[in-house]
Amino acid sequence: MEENYSKNQESASNEQFLKEKFLSKSLIKKVELTAKLFKEKKITLEQAGLILGMLPEELEGIFVQKGLTRHKKILVCGGAGFIGSNFVHYMLDKYPGYKIINYDKLTYAGNLENLRDLEKNPRYKFIQGDITDEEKIDKIMQEGIDAVINFAAETHVGRSVHGRAGEFIYANVLGPHTLLEAIKKYKIPKYIQVSTDEVFGDVDLNEDRHFEENSPFEPNVPYAAAKAGGDLICRAYWQTYKVPVIVTHCSNNYGPYQHPEKMIPYFIFRAMGQQPLPLHGDGRHVRDWIFALDHCEAIDLILQKGKPGEVYNIAADSEKPNLEIAKLILDILGQPHSLITFVPDRPGNDRRYSINSSKIQRELGWKPSNTFEDAMPKTIQWYQNNLDWVEQIKEKDREFVNYI
Ligand SMILES: NC(=O)c1ccc[n+]([C@@H]2O[C@H](COP(=O)([O-])OP(=O)(O)OC[C@H]3O[C@@H](n4cnc5c(N)ncnc54)[C@H](O)[C@@H]3O)[C@@H](O)[C@H]2O)c1
Repeated sequence: MEENYSKNQESASNEQFLKEKFLSKSLIKKVELTAKLFKEKKITLEQAGLILGMLPEELEGIFVQKGLTRHKKILVCGGAGFIGSNFVHYMLDKYPGYKIINYDKLTYAGNLENLRDLEKNPRYKFIQGDITDEEKIDKIMQEGIDAVINFAAETHVGRSVHGRAGEFIYANVLGPHTLLEAIKKYKIPKYIQVSTDEVFGDVDLNEDRHFEENSPFEPNVPYAAAKAGGDLICRAYWQTYKVPVIVTHCSNNYGPYQHPEKMIPYFIFRAMGQQPLPLHGDGRHVRDWIFALDHCEAIDLILQKGKPGEVYNIAADSEKPNLEIAKLILDILGQPHSLITFVPDRPGNDRRYSINSSKIQRELGWKPSNTFEDAMPKTIQWYQNNLDWVEQIKEKDREFVNYI
Protein backbone atom coordinates (compact mmCIF):
# COMPACT_ATOMS: atom_id res chain seq x y z
CA MET A 1 0.00 0.00 0.00
CA GLU A 2 1.29 3.43 -0.95
CA GLU A 3 2.23 5.72 1.92
CA ASN A 4 0.96 8.96 0.41
CA TYR A 5 0.98 11.34 3.35
CA SER A 6 3.05 14.23 2.10
CA LYS A 7 6.18 14.62 4.24
CA ASN A 8 7.32 18.00 2.90
CA GLN A 9 3.98 19.63 3.32
CA GLU A 10 3.83 18.25 6.80
CA SER A 11 7.17 19.62 7.99
CA ALA A 12 6.43 23.03 6.43
CA SER A 13 3.15 23.24 8.27
CA ASN A 14 4.89 21.98 11.44
CA GLU A 15 7.27 24.89 11.39
CA GLN A 16 4.49 27.37 10.86
CA PHE A 17 2.51 25.76 13.62
CA LEU A 18 5.44 25.86 16.04
CA LYS A 19 6.24 29.49 15.23
CA GLU A 20 2.67 30.44 16.01
CA LYS A 21 2.56 28.32 19.10
CA PHE A 22 5.88 28.88 20.84
CA LEU A 23 6.94 32.36 21.67
CA SER A 24 9.56 31.33 24.17
CA LYS A 25 12.17 28.63 24.48
CA SER A 26 11.15 28.07 28.09
CA LEU A 27 7.71 26.94 26.94
CA ILE A 28 9.34 24.43 24.58
CA LYS A 29 11.29 23.02 27.55
CA LYS A 30 8.06 22.66 29.52
CA VAL A 31 6.42 20.89 26.60
CA GLU A 32 9.34 18.47 26.33
CA LEU A 33 9.18 17.74 30.03
CA THR A 34 5.43 17.09 30.04
CA ALA A 35 5.82 14.91 26.92
CA LYS A 36 8.41 12.83 28.77
CA LEU A 37 6.13 12.43 31.80
CA PHE A 38 3.23 11.60 29.49
CA LYS A 39 5.24 8.96 27.59
CA GLU A 40 6.31 7.41 30.91
CA LYS A 41 2.60 7.30 31.81
CA LYS A 42 3.23 9.46 34.90
CA ILE A 43 0.64 12.02 33.81
CA THR A 44 -2.33 11.89 31.46
CA LEU A 45 -2.72 14.10 28.42
CA GLU A 46 -5.45 16.03 30.29
CA GLN A 47 -3.06 16.70 33.20
CA ALA A 48 -0.29 17.75 30.81
CA GLY A 49 -2.77 20.11 29.16
CA LEU A 50 -3.73 21.59 32.52
CA ILE A 51 -0.07 22.18 33.43
CA LEU A 52 0.52 24.08 30.17
CA GLY A 53 -2.90 25.70 29.96
CA MET A 54 -3.74 23.99 26.65
CA LEU A 55 -6.48 21.71 25.37
CA PRO A 56 -5.28 18.06 25.48
CA GLU A 57 -5.87 17.56 21.75
CA GLU A 58 -3.93 20.73 20.95
CA LEU A 59 -1.03 19.64 23.16
CA GLU A 60 -1.05 16.15 21.62
CA GLY A 61 -0.67 17.83 18.22
CA ILE A 62 2.34 19.77 19.51
CA PHE A 63 3.94 16.60 20.92
CA VAL A 64 3.56 15.01 17.50
CA GLN A 65 4.78 18.03 15.56
CA LYS A 66 7.90 18.16 17.73
CA GLY A 67 8.50 14.43 17.24
CA LEU A 68 7.94 13.71 20.95
CA THR A 69 5.12 11.25 20.28
CA ARG A 70 3.75 9.73 17.06
CA HIS A 71 0.52 10.45 15.22
CA LYS A 72 -2.49 8.38 16.25
CA LYS A 73 -3.88 6.51 13.25
CA ILE A 74 -7.63 6.16 13.09
CA LEU A 75 -9.23 3.91 10.49
CA VAL A 76 -12.64 5.27 9.50
CA CYS A 77 -14.65 2.80 7.44
CA GLY A 78 -17.40 4.33 5.33
CA GLY A 79 -15.90 7.82 5.62
CA ALA A 80 -17.14 8.88 2.16
CA GLY A 81 -20.78 8.65 3.22
CA PHE A 82 -22.90 11.22 5.03
CA ILE A 83 -21.99 10.83 8.71
CA GLY A 84 -18.55 9.35 7.98
CA SER A 85 -17.45 12.38 5.95
CA ASN A 86 -18.72 14.75 8.66
CA PHE A 87 -16.72 12.69 11.16
CA VAL A 88 -13.51 12.75 9.10
CA HIS A 89 -13.71 16.56 8.84
CA TYR A 90 -14.48 16.90 12.53
CA MET A 91 -11.58 14.69 13.66
CA LEU A 92 -8.97 16.27 11.39
CA ASP A 93 -10.07 19.72 12.57
CA LYS A 94 -10.03 18.85 16.22
CA TYR A 95 -6.96 16.61 16.53
CA PRO A 96 -3.75 17.90 14.92
CA GLY A 97 -2.06 14.75 16.28
CA TYR A 98 -4.29 12.32 14.36
CA LYS A 99 -4.02 10.77 10.94
CA ILE A 100 -7.19 9.44 9.35
CA ILE A 101 -7.38 6.58 6.90
CA ASN A 102 -10.75 6.62 5.18
CA TYR A 103 -11.58 3.16 3.82
CA ASP A 104 -14.71 3.13 1.68
CA LYS A 105 -16.08 0.95 -1.10
CA LEU A 106 -17.66 3.98 -2.81
CA THR A 107 -21.07 2.49 -3.39
CA TYR A 108 -23.70 4.84 -4.88
CA ALA A 109 -23.81 6.39 -1.35
CA GLY A 110 -20.07 7.07 -1.09
CA ASN A 111 -19.05 10.43 -2.49
CA LEU A 112 -15.48 11.72 -2.63
CA GLU A 113 -16.85 15.21 -3.33
CA ASN A 114 -17.67 15.28 0.41
CA LEU A 115 -13.92 15.18 1.07
CA ARG A 116 -12.50 17.13 -1.87
CA ASP A 117 -11.07 19.82 0.46
CA LEU A 118 -8.96 17.17 2.25
CA GLU A 119 -7.22 15.76 -0.81
CA LYS A 120 -3.98 17.58 -0.04
CA ASN A 121 -4.18 17.25 3.72
CA PRO A 122 -1.06 15.34 4.79
CA ARG A 123 -2.93 13.72 7.67
CA TYR A 124 -5.66 12.24 5.47
CA LYS A 125 -5.51 9.17 3.26
CA PHE A 126 -8.25 7.53 1.21
CA ILE A 127 -8.26 3.84 0.30
CA GLN A 128 -11.04 2.34 -1.78
CA GLY A 129 -12.18 -1.06 -0.61
CA ASP A 130 -14.89 -3.26 0.83
CA ILE A 131 -15.02 -3.97 4.58
CA THR A 132 -15.59 -7.62 3.76
CA ASP A 133 -12.26 -7.80 1.91
CA GLU A 134 -10.08 -9.68 4.43
CA GLU A 135 -6.82 -9.20 2.53
CA LYS A 136 -7.14 -5.43 2.15
CA ILE A 137 -8.25 -4.97 5.74
CA ASP A 138 -5.34 -7.11 6.93
CA LYS A 139 -2.87 -4.98 5.00
CA ILE A 140 -4.22 -1.75 6.51
CA MET A 141 -4.07 -3.14 10.02
CA GLN A 142 -0.36 -3.80 9.51
CA GLU A 143 0.14 0.00 9.36
CA GLY A 144 -0.45 0.11 13.13
CA ILE A 145 -3.98 1.35 13.72
CA ASP A 146 -5.00 2.88 17.07
CA ALA A 147 -8.75 2.66 16.62
CA VAL A 148 -11.35 1.64 14.05
CA ILE A 149 -14.70 3.37 13.62
CA ASN A 150 -17.13 1.63 11.32
CA PHE A 151 -19.72 3.74 9.54
CA ALA A 152 -19.68 1.54 6.44
CA ALA A 153 -23.06 -0.03 5.77
CA GLU A 154 -25.93 -0.23 3.35
CA THR A 155 -28.24 2.33 4.94
CA HIS A 156 -31.33 3.08 2.89
CA VAL A 157 -34.41 1.39 4.37
CA GLY A 158 -36.28 1.73 1.04
CA ARG A 159 -33.63 -0.28 -0.84
CA SER A 160 -33.68 -2.98 1.82
CA VAL A 161 -37.46 -3.21 1.54
CA HIS A 162 -37.61 -3.17 -2.26
CA GLY A 163 -35.57 -6.21 -3.19
CA ARG A 164 -31.97 -5.58 -2.15
CA ALA A 165 -31.92 -7.09 1.37
CA GLY A 166 -29.07 -9.48 0.45
CA GLU A 167 -26.69 -6.54 -0.06
CA PHE A 168 -27.58 -5.31 3.44
CA ILE A 169 -26.84 -8.64 5.09
CA TYR A 170 -23.54 -8.84 3.22
CA ALA A 171 -22.28 -5.37 4.18
CA ASN A 172 -23.88 -4.91 7.59
CA VAL A 173 -23.29 -8.38 9.07
CA LEU A 174 -20.28 -9.83 7.23
CA GLY A 175 -18.58 -6.40 7.22
CA PRO A 176 -18.35 -6.00 11.02
CA HIS A 177 -17.35 -9.67 11.27
CA THR A 178 -14.37 -9.14 8.94
CA LEU A 179 -13.31 -6.05 10.90
CA LEU A 180 -13.66 -7.83 14.24
CA GLU A 181 -11.46 -10.71 13.06
CA ALA A 182 -8.73 -8.28 11.99
CA ILE A 183 -9.05 -6.26 15.20
CA LYS A 184 -8.67 -9.46 17.20
CA LYS A 185 -5.65 -10.55 15.16
CA TYR A 186 -3.82 -7.21 15.41
CA LYS A 187 -4.99 -6.40 18.95
CA ILE A 188 -6.34 -2.99 17.92
CA PRO A 189 -7.14 -1.08 21.16
CA LYS A 190 -10.62 0.13 20.19
CA TYR A 191 -13.42 -0.55 17.71
CA ILE A 192 -16.63 1.46 17.48
CA GLN A 193 -19.51 -0.06 15.56
CA VAL A 194 -21.86 2.76 14.58
CA SER A 195 -25.41 1.49 14.67
CA THR A 196 -28.98 2.68 14.77
CA ASP A 197 -32.01 2.89 17.07
CA GLU A 198 -33.95 1.08 14.33
CA VAL A 199 -32.70 -2.27 15.67
CA PHE A 200 -35.16 -1.85 18.58
CA GLY A 201 -38.26 -1.75 16.36
CA ASP A 202 -40.84 0.90 17.15
CA VAL A 203 -43.16 2.24 19.85
CA ASP A 204 -46.70 3.59 19.55
CA LEU A 205 -47.27 7.32 19.19
CA ASN A 206 -48.68 7.68 22.71
CA GLU A 207 -46.66 4.96 24.42
CA ASP A 208 -44.49 5.97 27.37
CA ARG A 209 -41.66 3.57 26.49
CA HIS A 210 -38.17 4.42 25.27
CA PHE A 211 -35.38 2.29 23.85
CA GLU A 212 -32.72 1.58 26.47
CA GLU A 213 -29.27 0.15 25.71
CA ASN A 214 -30.51 -3.31 26.78
CA SER A 215 -33.94 -3.19 25.12
CA PRO A 216 -34.64 -6.30 23.00
CA PHE A 217 -33.84 -6.15 19.29
CA GLU A 218 -37.12 -6.18 17.35
CA PRO A 219 -36.16 -4.95 13.85
CA ASN A 220 -39.05 -4.52 11.43
CA VAL A 221 -37.24 -3.98 8.11
CA PRO A 222 -34.29 -5.79 6.50
CA TYR A 223 -31.97 -2.76 7.02
CA ALA A 224 -32.61 -2.79 10.77
CA ALA A 225 -32.33 -6.59 10.95
CA ALA A 226 -28.95 -6.54 9.17
CA LYS A 227 -27.67 -3.80 11.51
CA ALA A 228 -28.91 -5.83 14.49
CA GLY A 229 -26.98 -8.84 13.12
CA GLY A 230 -23.78 -6.75 12.97
CA ASP A 231 -24.35 -5.49 16.51
CA LEU A 232 -24.84 -9.03 17.79
CA ILE A 233 -21.61 -10.22 16.18
CA CYS A 234 -19.88 -7.35 17.99
CA ARG A 235 -21.41 -8.41 21.28
CA ALA A 236 -20.30 -12.01 20.73
CA TYR A 237 -16.70 -10.97 19.96
CA TRP A 238 -16.60 -9.00 23.21
CA GLN A 239 -18.14 -11.84 25.25
CA THR A 240 -16.03 -14.57 23.66
CA TYR A 241 -12.69 -12.92 22.90
CA LYS A 242 -12.81 -9.57 24.71
CA VAL A 243 -12.29 -7.76 21.41
CA PRO A 244 -12.60 -4.11 22.62
CA VAL A 245 -15.74 -3.16 20.75
CA ILE A 246 -18.32 -0.51 21.61
CA VAL A 247 -21.68 -0.40 19.85
CA THR A 248 -23.65 2.84 19.48
CA HIS A 249 -27.33 3.24 18.65
CA CYS A 250 -28.11 6.65 17.25
CA SER A 251 -31.37 8.23 16.14
CA ASN A 252 -32.01 9.85 12.72
CA ASN A 253 -29.28 12.24 11.56
CA TYR A 254 -29.52 15.33 9.36
CA GLY A 255 -26.90 17.80 8.18
CA PRO A 256 -24.53 18.53 5.27
CA TYR A 257 -23.48 15.82 2.77
CA GLN A 258 -26.55 13.58 3.19
CA HIS A 259 -27.64 11.60 0.13
CA PRO A 260 -31.04 12.80 -1.19
CA GLU A 261 -32.51 9.30 -0.90
CA LYS A 262 -33.02 10.24 2.79
CA MET A 263 -36.07 12.28 3.76
CA ILE A 264 -34.64 15.64 4.87
CA PRO A 265 -32.29 16.32 1.92
CA TYR A 266 -34.89 14.91 -0.49
CA PHE A 267 -37.52 17.31 0.80
CA ILE A 268 -35.01 20.18 0.68
CA PHE A 269 -34.10 19.32 -2.95
CA ARG A 270 -37.78 19.05 -3.89
CA ALA A 271 -38.78 22.28 -2.11
CA MET A 272 -35.83 24.12 -3.70
CA GLY A 273 -37.15 23.00 -7.10
CA GLN A 274 -40.78 23.85 -6.15
CA GLN A 275 -41.72 20.19 -6.66
CA PRO A 276 -44.18 18.12 -4.56
CA LEU A 277 -42.87 16.56 -1.32
CA PRO A 278 -44.09 12.92 -1.18
CA LEU A 279 -44.94 12.05 2.44
CA HIS A 280 -45.47 8.41 3.44
CA GLY A 281 -48.83 7.39 4.98
CA ASP A 282 -50.46 10.01 7.18
CA GLY A 283 -47.16 11.82 7.83
CA ARG A 284 -47.44 11.27 11.58
CA HIS A 285 -44.46 8.88 11.84
CA VAL A 286 -42.13 10.16 14.54
CA ARG A 287 -38.32 10.06 14.62
CA ASP A 288 -35.82 11.65 16.98
CA TRP A 289 -33.61 13.99 14.91
CA ILE A 290 -29.97 14.69 15.72
CA PHE A 291 -27.59 17.02 13.88
CA ALA A 292 -24.77 14.89 12.38
CA LEU A 293 -22.08 16.96 14.10
CA ASP A 294 -23.58 16.15 17.50
CA HIS A 295 -23.42 12.47 16.56
CA CYS A 296 -19.75 12.94 15.61
CA GLU A 297 -19.01 14.58 18.96
CA ALA A 298 -20.64 11.67 20.77
CA ILE A 299 -18.56 9.13 18.84
CA ASP A 300 -15.40 11.12 19.54
CA LEU A 301 -16.20 11.08 23.26
CA ILE A 302 -16.83 7.34 23.12
CA LEU A 303 -13.51 6.94 21.32
CA GLN A 304 -11.72 8.84 24.09
CA LYS A 305 -13.64 7.64 27.14
CA GLY A 306 -16.10 4.87 26.27
CA LYS A 307 -15.65 1.49 27.91
CA PRO A 308 -15.01 -1.55 25.71
CA GLY A 309 -17.91 -4.00 25.78
CA GLU A 310 -20.40 -1.20 26.44
CA VAL A 311 -23.33 -0.02 24.36
CA TYR A 312 -24.34 3.65 24.18
CA ASN A 313 -27.56 5.20 22.87
CA ILE A 314 -27.18 8.60 21.20
CA ALA A 315 -30.15 10.92 20.65
CA ALA A 316 -31.08 14.58 20.79
CA ASP A 317 -34.43 14.29 22.64
CA SER A 318 -35.99 15.95 19.64
CA GLU A 319 -38.86 13.77 18.42
CA LYS A 320 -40.78 15.21 15.48
CA PRO A 321 -43.49 13.92 13.12
CA ASN A 322 -42.47 13.83 9.46
CA LEU A 323 -45.33 16.19 8.56
CA GLU A 324 -43.94 18.87 10.88
CA ILE A 325 -40.53 18.55 9.20
CA ALA A 326 -41.99 18.84 5.71
CA LYS A 327 -43.85 22.01 6.74
CA LEU A 328 -40.78 23.51 8.40
CA ILE A 329 -38.64 22.94 5.28
CA LEU A 330 -41.30 24.56 3.11
CA ASP A 331 -41.60 27.49 5.52
CA ILE A 332 -37.85 28.10 5.59
CA LEU A 333 -37.68 27.94 1.81
CA GLY A 334 -40.78 30.16 1.41
CA GLN A 335 -42.82 27.48 -0.36
CA PRO A 336 -46.53 26.63 0.20
CA HIS A 337 -47.64 23.63 2.30
CA SER A 338 -49.75 22.58 -0.68
CA LEU A 339 -46.57 21.01 -2.11
CA ILE A 340 -46.99 18.18 0.46
CA THR A 341 -48.43 15.11 -1.27
CA PHE A 342 -49.44 12.03 0.72
CA VAL A 343 -48.27 8.75 -0.86
CA PRO A 344 -48.88 5.11 0.22
CA ASP A 345 -46.88 4.08 3.28
CA ARG A 346 -43.74 1.95 2.97
CA PRO A 347 -44.20 -1.69 4.09
CA GLY A 348 -42.89 -2.21 7.65
CA ASN A 349 -42.57 1.56 8.20
CA ASP A 350 -41.90 2.06 11.92
CA ARG A 351 -44.39 4.38 13.61
CA ARG A 352 -42.13 5.99 16.16
CA TYR A 353 -38.57 5.74 17.43
CA SER A 354 -38.07 6.92 20.96
CA ILE A 355 -34.63 6.50 22.43
CA ASN A 356 -33.22 7.22 25.87
CA SER A 357 -29.66 8.54 25.72
CA SER A 358 -29.23 9.32 29.42
CA LYS A 359 -26.39 6.77 29.82
CA ILE A 360 -23.91 8.62 27.59
CA GLN A 361 -24.98 11.91 29.17
CA ARG A 362 -24.53 10.56 32.69
CA GLU A 363 -21.39 8.45 32.21
CA LEU A 364 -19.45 10.43 29.60
CA GLY A 365 -20.91 13.91 30.03
CA TRP A 366 -22.15 14.20 26.41
CA LYS A 367 -25.04 16.37 25.35
CA PRO A 368 -25.99 17.64 21.91
CA SER A 369 -24.66 21.14 21.19
CA ASN A 370 -27.31 21.95 18.56
CA THR A 371 -31.07 22.27 18.74
CA PHE A 372 -33.25 21.23 15.82
CA GLU A 373 -34.56 24.80 15.57
CA ASP A 374 -31.02 26.15 15.01
CA ALA A 375 -29.48 23.32 13.02
CA MET A 376 -32.28 22.77 10.46
CA PRO A 377 -32.01 26.29 8.95
CA LYS A 378 -28.19 25.85 8.92
CA THR A 379 -28.61 22.51 7.11
CA ILE A 380 -30.93 24.00 4.49
CA GLN A 381 -28.51 26.89 4.04
CA TRP A 382 -25.68 24.40 3.44
CA TYR A 383 -27.59 22.74 0.56
CA GLN A 384 -28.46 26.16 -0.88
CA ASN A 385 -24.81 27.20 -0.72
CA ASN A 386 -23.58 23.96 -2.30
CA LEU A 387 -25.65 23.74 -5.45
CA ASP A 388 -22.74 22.15 -7.37
CA TRP A 389 -22.71 19.29 -4.85
CA VAL A 390 -26.51 18.96 -5.19
CA GLU A 391 -26.38 18.91 -9.01
CA GLN A 392 -23.45 16.49 -9.09
CA ILE A 393 -25.22 13.99 -6.83
CA LYS A 394 -28.46 14.21 -8.84
CA GLU A 395 -26.46 13.63 -12.02
CA LYS A 396 -24.46 10.72 -10.59
CA ASP A 397 -27.36 8.77 -9.19
CA ARG A 398 -30.78 9.09 -10.77
CA GLU A 399 -31.76 5.59 -9.65
CA PHE A 400 -32.38 6.53 -6.03
CA VAL A 401 -35.88 7.89 -6.76
CA ASN A 402 -37.03 4.30 -7.40
CA TYR A 403 -36.57 3.52 -3.71
CA ILE A 404 -38.09 6.61 -2.06
N1 LIG B 1 -28.08 8.36 8.68
C1 LIG B 1 -28.66 8.12 9.84
O1 LIG B 1 -29.66 8.77 10.18
C2 LIG B 1 -28.10 7.10 10.78
C3 LIG B 1 -28.64 7.00 12.07
C4 LIG B 1 -28.09 6.06 12.95
C5 LIG B 1 -27.08 5.23 12.54
N2 LIG B 1 -26.59 5.33 11.28
C6 LIG B 1 -25.47 4.45 10.90
O2 LIG B 1 -24.38 5.28 10.63
C7 LIG B 1 -23.59 4.72 9.60
C8 LIG B 1 -23.37 5.75 8.50
O3 LIG B 1 -24.64 6.14 7.99
P1 LIG B 1 -24.75 7.18 6.78
O4 LIG B 1 -26.11 7.74 6.81
O5 LIG B 1 -23.58 8.06 6.78
O6 LIG B 1 -24.65 6.19 5.55
P2 LIG B 1 -24.31 6.47 4.01
O7 LIG B 1 -25.16 5.53 3.24
O8 LIG B 1 -24.39 7.91 3.70
O9 LIG B 1 -22.77 6.04 3.88
C9 LIG B 1 -22.37 4.71 3.95
C10 LIG B 1 -20.94 4.65 3.42
O10 LIG B 1 -20.48 3.30 3.56
C11 LIG B 1 -19.85 2.93 2.34
N3 LIG B 1 -20.00 1.46 2.23
C12 LIG B 1 -21.15 0.77 2.05
N4 LIG B 1 -20.88 -0.55 2.01
C13 LIG B 1 -19.54 -0.67 2.19
C14 LIG B 1 -18.66 -1.78 2.26
N5 LIG B 1 -19.11 -3.03 2.13
N6 LIG B 1 -17.34 -1.56 2.46
C15 LIG B 1 -16.86 -0.29 2.60
N7 LIG B 1 -17.65 0.80 2.52
C16 LIG B 1 -18.98 0.60 2.32
C17 LIG B 1 -20.57 3.69 1.26
O11 LIG B 1 -19.76 3.82 0.09
C18 LIG B 1 -20.82 5.02 1.95
O12 LIG B 1 -19.73 5.90 1.77
C19 LIG B 1 -24.31 3.47 9.12
O13 LIG B 1 -23.72 2.35 9.69
C20 LIG B 1 -25.74 3.66 9.64
O14 LIG B 1 -26.34 2.43 9.90
C21 LIG B 1 -27.08 6.25 10.39
